[in-house]
Amino acid sequence: MTTVQAIRVSPEWLDLRESADAAARSLDLVRQLRSRLPAGGRLVVHDLASGSGSMGRWLAPLLPGPQHWVLHDRDPDLLALAEAPGPAATVEMRLSDVTRLGADELAEANLITASALLDLLTDEELAALVGACAGAGCPVLLTLSVTGSVQLLPADPLDARVAASFDEHQRRITPCGRLLGPDAGGVAAGAFRRRGAEEVVVRPGPWRLGAEEAALTAEWLVGWVDAACEQEPGLAEEIRSYAARRLAGQLEVTVGHADLLALPR
Ligand SMILES: C[S@@+](CC[C@H](N)C(=O)[O-])C[C@H]1O[C@@H](n2cnc3c(N)ncnc32)[C@H](O)[C@@H]1O
Repeated sequence: MTTVQAIRVSPEWLDLRESADAAARSLDLVRQLRSRLPAGGRLVVHDLASGSGSMGRWLAPLLPGPQHWVLHDRDPDLLALAEAPGPAATVEMRLSDVTRLGADELAEANLITASALLDLLTDEELAALVGACAGAGCPVLLTLSVTGSVQLLPADPLDARVAASFDEHQRRITPCGRLLGPDAGGVAAGAFRRRGAEEVVVRPGPWRLGAEEAALTAEWLVGWVDAACEQEPGLAEEIRSYAARRLAGQLEVTVGHADLLALPR
């Protein structure tokens, strides 16, 4: 039995979003986590569900000294695209299901990270992931969990309805259970607190997409609308003409994400 839903993420989508992701992640949380890293020596960073390694490309230059990055993902094609995230860093790839990590797999970690992962998980999978991270006893930085907050400018009367259908789609039931979707960030924060974290800090990490991000905005909108139609097939025709209208004009979009830093005692 698989415990993960086999949603493949394309490398093209990860490329397209990489600079918006980098601009959105909280630098304040990086400042806080830096003060909790060991002074001197090589840092071992485990990036869970790394995809092609975007988190390392953003974070490695913000961390001190030599680093060893361990990239975990269940998709070998994405892992094959990743490289060491900087001249002072080494990298190793592990093909793994991050919701089934054993305690020994993270034992050497000085820092655990993930990005754009939590909303894809079920409650049970997230609990297992938080358990493995908390067991490692190091800071954990989990960025860019979708919150469900979306603002489009100019506004359209259908925006709220599409957003609600999209959120329900994110919470859909799969063979592995109900996905957490926009609830994931809050569930993760509660789980770290219950497992005794000294501090759990949450910061907003919204995408702010304007004219310069038109390609990402268009791709995001198509995915957003497709998911809403799948959730509410009866609305498909109305939503499709909404999408055509939206794609024809200039659009500014803010997509809410939350970043979470859990600090151990
Ligand atoms: C939206 S992508 C984000 C990738 C990368 N963290 C980034 O920010 O570019 C989600 C990633 O999670 C991976 N993934 C999802 N569930 C997983 C699981 N249970 N175990 C390992 N990888 C998983 C997917 O293969 C994909 O690479």
